Amino acid sequence: MTEKESRYEDILARAKGLADGENDVVALMANISSLIHYEMGFWWTGFYIVKSELVLGPFQGPVACTRIAFGRGVCGTAWKERRTVIVPDVELFPGHIACSSESRSEIVVPVFAADGSVKAVLDIDSRELDTFSDVDARYLEAIASLLSRQDY
Ligand code: SME
Repeated sequence: MTEKESRYEDILARAKGLADGENDVVALMANISSLIHYEMGFWWTGFYIVKSELVLGPFQGPVACTRIAFGRGVCGTAWKERRTVIVPDVELFPGHIACSSESRSEIVVPVFAADGSVKAVLDIDSRELDTFSDVDARYLEAIASLLSRQDY
């Protein structure tokens, strides 16, 4: 197991503990974004919640864009295409929305409800290029699945 995997194992176990019995999605997103952000040392870690468009939810990091339309940017693409999107270099992603000029790479993971609809996205930005891999995708998808059964 790599160091990154072992950090994620710890985060996943703690996220499961936080999610256990917690039905308030904002409270849970707040703690999960803090957990990931501080354990992994990312630049920005947070959620956008699906309403008529994506609306900023709990996060850690600098001030970010408040609303993102369906299909726009990396977040809107993950929502529209219902899949995790990994961007090794944000400057090479057409339509990337630069909330912070410091962001160099990004991963966005959809949060699915039990009925298969996308309820939110988990967005993480790094100040380094090419930070995110299949390992991040796998663990972040497992963490996102802890947010599938709360009330939105
Ligand atoms: N870069 C994102 C916007 C959100 S911020 O990174 C926090 C995007 O292109 O959707």
